[in-house]
Amino acid sequence: MRLEKLKDEIRAMVKEVYPDREWVLVFGEGPAQARLMLVGEAPGEQEAMLGRPFVGKAGKLLDAFIAGTGLTRGEMYVTNTVKFRPSRISKAGRVVNRTPTQEEIAAFLPFLKKEIAQVDPACVVTLGNVPLRALLGEKETIGQAHGQLRRQEDRLYFPMYHPASMIYNPGLKAIFAQDMEKLGQLIKNIPIFNE
Ligand code: URA
Repeated sequence: MRLEKLKDEIRAMVKEVYPDREWVLVFGEGPAQARLMLVGEAPGEQEAMLGRPFVGKAGKLLDAFIAGTGLTRGEMYVTNTVKFRPSRISKAGRVVNRTPTQEEIAAFLPFLKKEIAQVDPACVVTLGNVPLRALLGEKETIGQAHGQLRRQEDRLYFPMYHPASMIYNPGLKAIFAQDMEKLGQLIKNIPIFNE
């Protein structure tokens, strides 16, 4: 219920701050009281088309790696930092994804923080630099922060590379798999997950 109200608040913010366009919004999904929450960057084309987070190429990769850990996507709450698809027109005239701007991230951040507070997961997994920097500080870099459990304001965070980065850099697959394995182990050892 509170998450529904939050969606209305996000819709109202987007109407006010970005009145020039009808934006398709992709909200978080999963159990409202999930113990594990995954936070991505922003929806891509498939996500905007289907209205669900991580259902395109990056999502399929994510699912494949989750499958190896004993965790299931169904027990996770999955969301994004920015809830619309940041896009631009390429030189070839196609609509392509772009990284969200600092203004877009700042506009959505208070709502992401509320979303985290409402779901109240034991651990938040940030995927890539955008949620890492938004939630843990601008100076962070995923190359250094990935795979290390962090505590901030009484919540655990586990930064991971963004699954899409493996599409461009297949060398990251082994690191991503290692971090996912570590996450699976950590969860077994965090008492709150096993209550
Ligand atoms: N990349 C993201 O960060 N989020 C999605 O939902 C899909 C791709």
